[in-house]
Amino acid sequence: MNVLSVVGARPQFVKAAAVSQQLRDTHDELLVHTGQHYDPELSEVFFEELALPEPAFHLGVGSDSHATQTAEMMLELERIIDDESPDVVLVYGDTNSTLAAALVAAKSSTQLAHVEAGLRSYDWSMPEEVNRRLTDHCSDILFAPGQHAKETLAQEGISENVFVSGDVMYDTLIQISDRLHGTETELDVPDEYVLATVHRAKNTDDRDRLESIIDAFSQLHVPVVFPAHPRTVTALQEYGLWDRATEAARVIDPVTYGQFITLVEDAVCVATDSGGVQKEAFYLDTPCVTLRETTEWIETVDAGWNTLVGAETSEIVDAVRAAVDPPAKPELYGNGNAAARIVEQLERSVR
Ligand code: UD1
Ligand code: UDP
Repeated sequence: MNVLSVVGARPQFVKAAAVSQQLRDTHDELLVHTGQHYDPELSEVFFEELALPEPAFHLGVGSDSHATQTAEMMLELERIIDDESPDVVLVYGDTNSTLAAALVAAKSSTQLAHVEAGLRSYDWSMPEEVNRRLTDHCSDILFAPGQHAKETLAQEGISENVFVSGDVMYDTLIQISDRLHGTETELDVPDEYVLATVHRAKNTDDRDRLESIIDAFSQLHVPVVFPAHPRTVTALQEYGLWDRATEAARVIDPVTYGQFITLVEDAVCVATDSGGVQKEAFYLDTPCVTLRETTEWIETVDAGWNTLVGAETSEIVDAVRAAVDPPAKPELYGNGNAAARIVEQLERSVR
């Protein structure tokens, strides 16, 4: 089987790491990096730490408007798919890189497989919601992380070739946790802290929301460690909020994956608007406060490990103060063997 895997943004490197390893044992994989993320701390460090293979193609698209960025990826991907004629195109998650590859695969009649299918926030203003819905509806083979996502797809009329695989991010997490066990992060952080990340367009493109989140950080009872996405740094600077942010929190550059999950594990609470980080907090037994009104990882909320608070200062402060470990932890997204399941199913489903 010849697989063309397309990645481009930080969370996709984490997801692809698990599957790529399994695939390459018995199949041929060509990895495409769109270049959506290009700063070393958002890209290169993940390839090194997670031993991802060198991309066969690096498109180098960089940052731009959604239309330009997606269109540039599509132009390059069409050429590659024409030249390489893969048996299947494999995409992850919900970024512009995901959608670009999905559209090109669908229009070139190449089979398309989507990892993290069936997730919905039902917030159509999120670019990710547009990307994941359209990708699901272009896909031939759909890997849902849990039963709920499979049911969501069925409600939208997609019930063929949908497989519950579990979450590939859990696979990667288990692998690196085993490797890192007992090692230090080499970061100077307090004994007790809240770990924060913020990068969603809704929070960074709206000065009031970002200010309200920063105000909450300044009112918390424990210090906040805040590895800031470059988009958020730019927004804080543009809005004149940078000094307030650095007073409210220990703002640091994005950290490596190993450092980040160690920070999650040791935090008293995680406050985030990330998709992946909500799950990682759950896997690592750290309660999560989500700085959004909706989540596509709704099972973590239902299980009591995640609280949706939006961007209101007092709600964030109250939720972080109230955050405790719930008594029980169900298995929500598999047991860490999602990549093996995905590869086995691809072997059966790819024509
Ligand atoms: C993208 C994804 C989002 C995902 C996130 C993971 C889309 C629409 N969004 O959001 O779903 O959660 O990645 O982190 O696909 N920038 C840099 N250096 C980089 C990359 C970006 O400075 O290496 C800055 C640029 O100013 C750029 C901005 O960040 O304009 C946004 O980057 P972009 O890739 O468009 O979206 P993200 O916010 O990173
Ligand atoms: N992450 C990291 N360093 C950081 C922040 C996040 O390695 O400084 C990892 C995190 O462990 C998770 C992934 O990046 O695996 C999540 O990416 P992000 O929050 O950017 O994207 P989302 O999941 O929201 O799409």
